Amino acid sequence: FEQSEDNLRSPICCIMGHVDAGKTKLLDCIRGTNVQGGEAGGITQQIGATYLPAEKIRERTKPDATLKVPGLLVIDTPGHESFANLRSRGSGLCDIAILVVDIKCGLEQQTIESLNLLKMQNTKFIIALNKVDRLFGWKKCPNAPIKKALKQQSEDVLNEFNIRLTQIITQFKEQGLNRELYYTSKKMGETFSIVPTSAISGEGIPDLLLLLVQWTQKTMVEKLTYSNEVQCTVLEVKVVEGHGTTIDVIFVNGVLHEGDQIVGPIVTTIRALLTPHPMEELRVKGTYLRHNEVTASMVIKITAKGLQHAIAGTSLYVVRPDHDLEDVKEAAMAD
Ligand code: GTP
Ligand code: MG
Ligand code: NA
Repeated sequence: FEQSEDNLRSPICCIMGHVDAGKTKLLDCIRGTNVQGGEAGGITQQIGATYLPAEKIRERTKPDATLKVPGLLVIDTPGHESFANLRSRGSGLCDIAILVVDIKCGLEQQTIESLNLLKMQNTKFIIALNKVDRLFGWKKCPNAPIKKALKQQSEDVLNEFNIRLTQIITQFKEQGLNRELYYTSKKMGETFSIVPTSAISGEGIPDLLLLLVQWTQKTMVEKLTYSNEVQCTVLEVKVVEGHGTTIDVIFVNGVLHEGDQIVGPIVTTIRALLTPHPMEELRVKGTYLRHNEVTASMVIKITAKGLQHAIAGTSLYVVRPDHDLEDVKEAAMAD
């Protein structure tokens, strides 16, 4: 396949940050769901995944937005300190990340832990400066672009906003990072990557989605070019009523079919290739769509015999007619 802007897979975006910064709520706002309300103690305890098709992103941004990617695959991670392994797994799968910072709290322990993971993996990230609606006296402008929402605010609100923003920019400097509000420059890139948001009233959500799409499709063409080579990672092995033991998989690149022989580390044949509905969280019980064939990037659920022996965090390999099964098994064992 040719490397080209016309042949892109969906970017995979991981949402990270300190507990209760608003990661799941931001996704709820984008999806029109209430996943966070259903969580025990309001705490995320598993990796989540949701596919956002381009047409849904367009509805939340602007009608004339140039969307070259087919959609976005977003991965939600837990912020609670005990889930460092899941943060590491989630961030290891992504092309770009959103680091969520509570504007009233600034950089906290797991914000810094997440930051260090992203630095280590050299992953670019956008900073969602969340909960702007909690600034005292904030006037809600539901789903408005952030500049428009800020124009509606009183001088007091703007003062508090600027003081907190300046403090947080300083905290990033202390971590060796030079970060500014994204709209203070037309240049796209790491420096201009702070997007103020509210997950409750939706201010800044259009900005966040548009920046994600534009940044990835402009600067990550090589990484995002669709390829024939299957690349996927098992997120979780779980029993689902009516399906037996299934695996949830982040499918990064390539194409999969029902009936494909897979190795990882067990050798089996895909019985059913399922996906959650677009805009629906994988973690939430629901119905699945069944496909003969799925192209990446996507979150998928696979049913097959023997999946109780699959292992979360490992790669899945596909045996094609021109492959040698023993070679593929060897690659899988090396994981
Ligand atoms: P963990 O996954 O447990 O790490 O938390 P999280 O980062 O996903 O945060 P979550 O979405 O659970 O939100 C935590 C709390 O903050 C909830 O009570 C949300 O309703 C609230 N919250 C999140 N975002 C906003 C926001 O933008 N404004 C206001 N006012 N509250 C918010
Ligand atoms: Mg959460
Ligand atoms: Na939470």
